[in-house]
Amino acid sequence: MLPIDIENLSKTYSVKRGRKVLALDNLTLQVDQGEILGFLGPNGSGKSTTIKTLVGQIRATQGKASIFGQPVRDSNCRQRVGYLPENPAFYDFLTSHQYLDLVGSTFGMDANHLRTESDRVLDLLDLHHADRRPIRSYSKGMVQRLGLAQALLHDPDLYILDEPMSGLDPLGRALVKQIIVDLKHRGKTVFFSTHVTADVEAVCDRVAVIVSGKLQAVNLVSELLEKGIEGYVIQLSGGSEQLCAGFEMNLREDSLREVFVQRRDLNRFMGDVSRDNGEILLMEPRRRDLEQFFLDIVRREKE
Ligand SMILES: Nc1ncnc2c1ncn2[C@@H]1O[C@H](COP(=O)(O)OP(=O)(O)OP(=O)(O)O)[C@@H](O)[C@H]1O
Ligand SMILES: [Mg+2]
Repeated sequence: MLPIDIENLSKTYSVKRGRKVLALDNLTLQVDQGEILGFLGPNGSGKSTTIKTLVGQIRATQGKASIFGQPVRDSNCRQRVGYLPENPAFYDFLTSHQYLDLVGSTFGMDANHLRTESDRVLDLLDLHHADRRPIRSYSKGMVQRLGLAQALLHDPDLYILDEPMSGLDPLGRALVKQIIVDLKHRGKTVFFSTHVTADVEAVCDRVAVIVSGKLQAVNLVSELLEKGIEGYVIQLSGGSEQLCAGFEMNLREDSLREVFVQRRDLNRFMGDVSRDNGEILLMEPRRRDLEQFFLDIVRREKE
């Protein structure tokens, strides 16, 4: 059973004076078992609308979606889901421990298990020092951390996270990325939205790009990065002057040259270096990054 299966999903919001906003336009997307899928899109592109449909907060206008084979309108399907909403908000008179007690009991966790698991997730998110304070005294980043803690509490199989890194400092962002990767290593599935391409590049197996409610691309991140290689920066010593003729070149030291060789010229260049007794000291790919890929899609769609 697929963790997430979305078929031809559309959502139209009704706004004032009978006006309508098409927030999702015929979205079809599958999330595979054990993968981390980044749902990447600019502001207002329909990420949260998709996520809210999956967790039953709103109803789609058309199409269907299921979680582990169960339709999303059946609330039982959420037993196996950890959900972090965009801008999480809690009963702020509770402490984080009290809040986690509430969450744990709705998932049927027994008291002892709940206590150890609460401690575990509060430790993990570095919130233990504040766990006896009311949530109203928490900073924005601390509230976000608590949002993640409650999503992890019952050790679900699928994580649906709406901008999990939002509002966190660099340490917090690194921590959350590590948590996501660790979940995958434990066989869990993670579907998270973001507009930060570097986060996708750092942790995702695949990326799905959404713009103006339409899915524009679904790709393996490794393939995009590999395809994005434009050429190689090569540091070279020895060989004749002639070797670098026609290439973009910097002279680094007396005999050390740095050349940029296009991907298509690489084999020929390597052959020339070997025939000419040159020595390659370093070779690094220069790639079009995910940011560029994303911007190209967004610009094309907005034009
Ligand atoms: N309750 C609502 N009523 C009317 N329109 C809405 C509502 N919620 C969202 N929209 C509209 O639907 C579109 C998609 O919004 P959505 O919140 O899904 O975007 P998003 O990709 O999550 O954006 P962001 O990155 O800013 O969080 C936007 O045009 C938004 O204005
Ligand atoms: Mg959103």
